[in-house]
Amino acid sequence: MRIDILTLFPNMFKGVFEESIIKRAIDLNKVEINLINFREFTKDAHNKVDDTPYGGGAGMVLMPQPIFDCVKSLRNDSSKVILLTPDGGLFNQEKAYSLAKEKHLILICGHYEGFDERIRSICDMEISIGDYVLTGGEIPAMAIADSVVRLLPGVINEDSSNNDSFNHNLLDYPTYTKPRVYEGMEVPEVLLSGDHKKIAEYRKNESIKRTKKRRPDLLKK
Ligand code: ADE
Repeated sequence: MRIDILTLFPNMFKGVFEESIIKRAIDLNKVEINLINFREFTKDAHNKVDDTPYGGGAGMVLMPQPIFDCVKSLRNDSSKVILLTPDGGLFNQEKAYSLAKEKHLILICGHYEGFDERIRSICDMEISIGDYVLTGGEIPAMAIADSVVRLLPGVINEDSSNNDSFNHNLLDYPTYTKPRVYEGMEVPEVLLSGDHKKIAEYRKNESIKRTKKRRPDLLKK
């Protein structure tokens, strides 16, 4: 997979893609991630990428030209162009699985007050990562890239992603490691029994209990 991220702040991504599982996925050539500063595409004499909104109002608005030209230079028949915006459809694990099947994602990070409405016309999809407003699309792009890359074949152990929270619309079951007793809190007996059928039943029940208590909205799906 290739992920191209259009941003005015490529340095924000350092660290996130240079550590841990994402770094390993890049090193193993499971994914290529390119950070593209769309300011480089502006035709403005002063390198401007934004301007004041028509009709008045606060803040600056990203102009269409640099983003249009940048997307045109990258797009091919298998590209999926995604705009990060609080107005988008809410991101979830199902969408992560669906994006993990794509060959090429182009993620556009807005910033400042917003972007010219016409930018939506070149996008295949608009995504929000939650009902709150961030300073830009960079953190959403990191969250989406992270959740998608870990699902690419060979990036993490598939048993591990099969057991993720939200698969089958359930939260994860409780897990424990050594020691067997810590500050008076004991590991449930069944997990020490070696009976794999019983353990699977216990985990399923705990998952359902936890989901009912914390996220009953998921069970309704
Ligand atoms: N840009 C600003 N806030 C956002 C959000 N919640 N999701 C996606 N993009 C955003």
